Amino acid sequence: MSRTFIICKPDAVERGYVGNILDRFERKGLKIVAAELRQLDADTLAKHYEEHVGKGFYNDLVAFMSRSPAFVAVLEGPEDTFAIVRTMMGATNPAVSPPGTIRGDLGTEMTENLVHGSDSEESAQREIGIFFPNL
Ligand code: RTP
Ligand code: MG
Repeated sequence: MSRTFIICKPDAVERGYVGNILDRFERKGLKIVAAELRQLDADTLAKHYEEHVGKGFYNDLVAFMSRSPAFVAVLEGPEDTFAIVRTMMGATNPAVSPPGTIRGDLGTEMTENLVHGSDSEESAQREIGIFFPNL
């Protein structure tokens, strides 16, 4: 078994798509082992997105991610659950993400791309530690 970390980003919460997104993961066979609606702050986002701090899009990313509550969760499944989730999310840019993926079905904009998923086993462990340190 392995675990990964996801965020239904503020656009997903605002547009009422948390249920749709969780339903996709549950139907796939992944289990929700922790979840909470949470207002994210700049310090937490700087830890979470540490590889992006200082990039051109970083300030827009933080403004977006902190503008209203996000839904943070940990999912559990078989080996490499992070990769299953990333496949279901689709490409970073929803405009070129295929239909059938979360971003391809629900979004059109680069920043407001609905969902985050850890990009490796190491990222998953690191991010779960930031958001659910008692897990
Ligand atoms: P995420 O970390 O949120 O799951 O997304 P990702 O791996 O697909 O993409 P990443 O490269 O890690 O970028 C993190 C988030 O920053 C925003 N972004 N904007 N305007 C831009 O060029 C740009 N590039 C990235 C997106 O919200 C992306 O999900
Ligand atoms: Mg990423």
